[in-house]
Amino acid sequence: MANVVVIGAQWGDEGKGKVVDIYTEFADNVVRYQGGNNAGHTLVVGDEKVILHLIPSGILHEGKRCIIGNGVVLDPEVFIMEITKLKANGYLKDDSMLRLSESLHIIMPYHKRIDIAREAKSGAKKIGTTGRGIGPAYEDKIGRRGIRLMDLLDEKSFSRKVKEILDEKNLILTQFLNDKPFTFEEIYEEYMGYAETLRKYAADTSLLLHKEIRAGKSLLFEGAQGTLLDVDHGSYPYVTSSSTCSGGACTGSGVSPREIHEVIGIAKAYATRVGSGPFPTELEDETGEALRQAGREFGSTTGRPRRCGWYDALVARYAVRVNGLSGIAITKLDVLSGLETVKVCTGYSYNGQVLDEVPASLEVIEQCRPIYQEFPGWTEDITGAKSLAELPENAQNYIKRIEELSGAPVVLVSVGPRRSETIVLRNPFEA
Ligand code: GDP
Ligand code: IMO
Ligand code: MG
Repeated sequence: MANVVVIGAQWGDEGKGKVVDIYTEFADNVVRYQGGNNAGHTLVVGDEKVILHLIPSGILHEGKRCIIGNGVVLDPEVFIMEITKLKANGYLKDDSMLRLSESLHIIMPYHKRIDIAREAKSGAKKIGTTGRGIGPAYEDKIGRRGIRLMDLLDEKSFSRKVKEILDEKNLILTQFLNDKPFTFEEIYEEYMGYAETLRKYAADTSLLLHKEIRAGKSLLFEGAQGTLLDVDHGSYPYVTSSSTCSGGACTGSGVSPREIHEVIGIAKAYATRVGSGPFPTELEDETGEALRQAGREFGSTTGRPRRCGWYDALVARYAVRVNGLSGIAITKLDVLSGLETVKVCTGYSYNGQVLDEVPASLEVIEQCRPIYQEFPGWTEDITGAKSLAELPENAQNYIKRIEELSGAPVVLVSVGPRRSETIVLRNPFEA
C-alpha cells in the first residue's frame, strides 16, 4: 500500500493521463487536487482515445473511486458534459464512485469572459491561457470572494454571493475590458440547473480520503499542468494559477504530507510548451516541426500547436528538487526514433557564465542559451519494447544519461500511447 503523487515535471502534457491510467490498477482512489478543465489528459484504451479535462483518469477503471478535491476549480457545465459522455460510453455506472469536494470553487460565467477578454486586451503580452476562466476563478478564491460548491448547493447563499459580486464583475467587463455584462437572472437560472446534478456527488472529500487511508486503501494523486507552470515555482507570470507541484496535492485534497509515500514526475523524452513564456530549448526549425508531427503535439484542450524542443536536464533537476521526486517516468521515447542526433540541455549560457540551475528571474531565463550534449540517435521502431534491454543501445544510453543528469531514478519508460506500450522498471505502489 502506498499513496503516490504524479506530477508534470515540465510544462504540462507530459503524458500524465497515460501514466495515471497505468498506475490506477494499483490504487483504490484517484484524486485531482488542482487546476480545472484547462487540463487535457489523454488515455488510449484499445482503439479508443479518451480525453479527460476534469474527471480523474481513474474513471475508466471500474471499482476505483475518483475524487475532485477542494483545490480544483470546477466548471459545472464541463463537469456535466464530461460525466454524460462517460456514462454514454459505459463508464461511471456507479455514481458513488465519483465525489466532489463541497469546498471546491466554482468557475462562473464571468470568470470565463474575463479570462478571454483580458487576454485579448493584453496583446503581445498575453499568457496564452486556455480561456477556461481558471485564473479569474483562483483570483476570487484567494481574494475570499469565490463561490464554493457548498454555496451553489444552497440557493440562498448562492443568490446572495452572486448579487454581492456581480456589480464588480460587470464594472470590470464593461468599463475595463470592453465586453458585455451579465444579468443576475441568467447566471441564477443556468447555475441552479447544474446544482441538482452536482448535489449527488458533493462530499467532505478530505474526511473520505482520511477514512480510506485508515482502512488501508491507497491513493493516487493526479497532477495537472506541470512544474514550470506552478504559480510559485514556475516561470511567473507565464504560469497557471494553481500549485501544480507536489505540495499542491496536500493543500488541494486535505491529506497530510505525512501520508504521501512517493512522488513521480512525468517528463517527455524531449520538451513541449503551449502558450507564452520562456522555453530555452525550443526548436523553431525543421527538427521542432519533426517532433511536433511525430509526437502529434497539438493541445488536447485547445488544439493549439505545442512548441517543441530538446530535453532540458536543468528543468528536470529543478522538478526533482521542488517536488521531491522519488522517480521519473519518461514518456514518448518512441517519438525520437529516426532522428540522427538527439540533444539534452546540460547548462545555460548567460552573460558569459554557465548556469546549472534554472534561474528564478524571467529576464535572466529569457536570455539563457542552452548548452547541449549530443547523442547518436536510433532508427528502430521501439513501440514493442518490453524492457530496457530490448531498446537500441543508443536509446538505452540516452535514458541512462537523462537519469544521471536529472538526479532521480527512471521508474517507467513509455514507448507509445497505449497501455501496453510501457516499460515499467519499478512500481511505486510496491515500494
Ligand atoms: P497530459 O496532459 O500530461 O496527460 O498529456 P496529454 O494527454 O495532453 O498529451 C500527451 C499525448 O501523448 C497524448 O496524446 C498521449 O496519448 C500521448 N502519449 C503518451 N505517452 C506516449 C508515448 O510514450 N508515445 C507516444 N507516441 N505518445 C504518447
Ligand atoms: P495538462 O494537465 C499544458 C498553460 C496554458 C497557458 C498557461 C495558463 O493537460 O498538462 P490557464 O488557462 O491555466 O490560465 O493557462 O498554462 N496550460 C497548460 N499547458 N498542459 C496543461 O494541462 C495546461 N493547462 C494550462 O497554455 O500557457
Ligand atoms: Mg494535457
